[in-house]
Amino acid sequence: MFQKVEAAPPDAILGITEAFLADTNPDKINLSVGQYKDAHGKTPVLRCVKAAEQRLLTEENTKAYLPIDGRQDYDRQVPSLLWGSDSLATSNRVASVQTPGGTAALRVAADFVQSAFPSATVWCSTPTWANHASIFHAAGLKVQYYPYFRAESNGLDFGAMIGSLHNVPAGDAVLLHVCCHNPTGIDPTAEQWSEIAAAAREKQWLPILDFAYQGFGVGLEEDALGLRAISSACDELLVCSSFSKNFGLYRERVGALTALTGDATTTKSVLSRIKKCIRSNYSNPPSHGAAIVATVLSDPGFTKDWHAELAEMRDRINGMRSSFVAGMAKANAPRDFSFIGQQRGMFSFSGLTPQQVDQLRDRFAIYVVRDGRINVAGMTDETMGYLCDSLVSVLEG
Ligand SMILES: Cc1ncc(COP(=O)(O)O)c(C=O)c1O
Repeated sequence: MFQKVEAAPPDAILGITEAFLADTNPDKINLSVGQYKDAHGKTPVLRCVKAAEQRLLTEENTKAYLPIDGRQDYDRQVPSLLWGSDSLATSNRVASVQTPGGTAALRVAADFVQSAFPSATVWCSTPTWANHASIFHAAGLKVQYYPYFRAESNGLDFGAMIGSLHNVPAGDAVLLHVCCHNPTGIDPTAEQWSEIAAAAREKQWLPILDFAYQGFGVGLEEDALGLRAISSACDELLVCSSFSKNFGLYRERVGALTALTGDATTTKSVLSRIKKCIRSNYSNPPSHGAAIVATVLSDPGFTKDWHAELAEMRDRINGMRSSFVAGMAKANAPRDFSFIGQQRGMFSFSGLTPQQVDQLRDRFAIYVVRDGRINVAGMTDETMGYLCDSLVSVLEG
C-alpha cells in the first residue's frame, strides 16, 4: 500500500532552514524561520524559564496525566494575560484550555467550529501565516480570504479589508491577528480595530483571534488592544494564544484556546465540546511548558523578570528595524525602506520578488521566504552591513 503514496511537498519555511544548514558559506544569514534570535544569532532560554525549571525540578511530584483541558491554574492565568484588569479576566463567560502550542489552539478551535457549525467558512487575511489554511482545511472547513496588505504603500489596505469584512456572511468565522501580523508586521490602529469590532457585531460573524506575539509589538497590554476592542463589542469569540515566542518556549509546545460566550451556561457547553475535540485528538496536553508558564506567572518575582526579558527581546527587534532602515539608506538602496521601522513584531514584507529572493540565496547565502517575508530578529549588528550591501546589489539587478 505505502508504495503508492505520493511524497508531500516540503514545508515552505522549514525547507529553507534545511537548505541554510547545508550551506557552507561562512557569511550565511537565515531570515526565514519564525524564531526570535538574540544579538549572537541564538534563540536563548529565558532566565525566568530556567529559574522556574529549577523550582519544578525539586517540587514536581507526579507525571500523572493532566486533565483534558490542562492545568487549572494555567487556565485561569491565561484570561488575565488577555484581559488584564478587565472583569472578563475572571468572568464565568470565559473558559481557557491549555493546548500544545498556538498551532493546536488553532486546530482545536477549527475542530470545534467544524463540529458545531459544519457549513462555516473561515476568512483569512491576504496574506496570512502559511499554516492557517492548512489547519482549517485539515479540520474540514472551507477557507476564503479578505484583503489586507497593499504592496504600493507597504501598508494596510484598510478600505478593502473592512469592505470585505462587511460582506462576510453571518455564521462564518474571521481569523484576525491580534498583533504583529505574520507575515507583514502591519497591524490595524485603535480606530480601525473599533471599526472591525463594529463589523463583527453588526454582521454576526465569529472572530477567531490568533495571538501568537503578545508582548512582541509594544507591550503585553498594548498588544491586546484589538482583542479588547472586539470583546467590548461582541459577546462571542475565540482566542488562540501561543507562548512559543513571548516565553521562548517553542519546542515545549505551550498555548491556549480561550472561548468568550454570552453567559456562563453557554461557556460550559462550549467548553464541553472543546474538550471532546481535544480528547479525540491528543487526549490531554503535555505538562512541562505550561508548568513553566504557570510557575512564572504565579511568582511576582519571576513575572517581573519575564516582563523585563520580554522587553529586551522587543527592544532588540525594534532596534534592528531602525538599524536596517539606516543601513539601507547608507548603502544607497534604490528604494525607501523606512516602512520596516513602522512595522511591529518579528516579520516584515520586504517587497522582494521570488527571483530576488533566489538571487540573495544563490549569490550571498541570505535565506528569505520566497514571498519576501523577512524575520527582523534574524538580523544582528555584526551582519547588518553585509545584509544591506547584498540586498542593494540584488535590488540594483
Ligand atoms: C501567526 C501565528 N499563529 C500561530 C503560530 C503557532 O505557534 P506555535 O509555535 O505555538 O504552535 C505561529 C507560529 O509561528 C504564528 O506565527
